[in-house]
Amino acid sequence: MMGVVEPHPDSVAAVDTVLATTRSVRRRLDLTRPVDEQTILDCIDLAEQAPTGGNQSSRRWLVIRDPGQKQKLADIYRRAGGDRIVSQYEGVAGTGHHNEKVLASAAHLAEHLHEVPAIVIVTIWGEHDGSGRPGLFDSVIQSAWSFCLALRARGLGSAWTTLHLNAADEVNDVLGIPDGVTQIVLLPVAHTVGTDFRPAARTPAREITYVDRWGATRAEPSDGPLTFAAGPGVTVEIDIDARADDVWPFVSEPDLLARWSDEFMGAEWDDPDTEPGLGSTFTGRNRLEPLGEWTTTSHITAFEPGRVFEWAVRDPDEPGARWRFELIPLAGATRLRYAMRFGPGPSGLTRAIDDDPGNETRIIRARQRTHAANMTRCLEGIRGLAESAAAR
Ligand SMILES: Cc1cc2nc3c(=O)[nH]c(=O)nc-3n(C[C@H](O)[C@H](O)[C@H](O)COP(=O)(O)O)c2cc1C
Repeated sequence: MMGVVEPHPDSVAAVDTVLATTRSVRRRLDLTRPVDEQTILDCIDLAEQAPTGGNQSSRRWLVIRDPGQKQKLADIYRRAGGDRIVSQYEGVAGTGHHNEKVLASAAHLAEHLHEVPAIVIVTIWGEHDGSGRPGLFDSVIQSAWSFCLALRARGLGSAWTTLHLNAADEVNDVLGIPDGVTQIVLLPVAHTVGTDFRPAARTPAREITYVDRWGATRAEPSDGPLTFAAGPGVTVEIDIDARADDVWPFVSEPDLLARWSDEFMGAEWDDPDTEPGLGSTFTGRNRLEPLGEWTTTSHITAFEPGRVFEWAVRDPDEPGARWRFELIPLAGATRLRYAMRFGPGPSGLTRAIDDDPGNETRIIRARQRTHAANMTRCLEGIRGLAESAAAR
């Protein structure tokens, strides 16, 4: 192993490439090219550098190369869920379904698992106590992922798979894994066909990173105390047991939010005879002590039925605030995300800051908390309506 080493600036690009492009490789696993054992051991040595609770050596790695053993594992994998993936794929093949590509790839792996040069199963001594506290898995998952990264750096690939865990006891029997050891992941290992892989589309960090408090976002980079210029915002989310199409009617009618908000009193579409869509406007009434009542015109700036409903307050080019509902499909359910961003245009918030500039951060934080509470009540209300509508 290496002695003391310092990161070199040139290595950043190489590391970032590996981090950004270590994909689940299934169809591009080279089933014909052997993998030498030392390469796998080198990757395990690197993976073992990952942290472990109590600094104990508790991870155990199984490398399965014997064709008979691989066949038995592949049979279990298929029975435990692989066959279901294959038939799901057959159901959507050629339809352009949003999961078609992943299903095609997962079905391919299920059908060829016995042919991969090596199957690596990562395990750990111990059984999870179900307490919800960090413990068992937290000492092994990071290591298994390091193994995948080390493979990628060497032109090999893998796919993180867990279907076999539905039949973990059968796998224990085949491999002789003793009681008290927990399997975490099954990794098919092979050289990849070509080494060019792309980064995947993922939610940008700014949208899923909260600063100093759950749900508190910033649209712009900012290193000092929180300021209005950083584009502060609030994001709240809720999981709804209904499909996105059943949730959509309740997010695309702003007037409804008045039922649950302390501040928002109601809204009317400015052109009630036209179906709302991109560019439509509505007038909203608001009330807040000690400011009293005020109205605002809002402009629909994104309108994708079943997906996104967004509006900008006052001026769409320089809004006082921007509000957005996003419906994220989950299996049979929907995660509803409700996000708002203050500014960059003027609003009640900018007036409050202008009146008391020394308290900018505190004023913004208080406003974020008020909005978060109102927005959370709105999401709970929408969930109630959508789930009852879906149950009908
Ligand atoms: C916890 C977990 C379990 C998974 N189980 C399986 C599995 O059993 N079979 C499979 O083919 N892929 C499995 N995957 C891989 C995902 O389907 C994969 O991450 C997804 O297709 C996205 O592809 P990417 O990793 O290339 O971004 C699993 C991934 C995770 C994180």
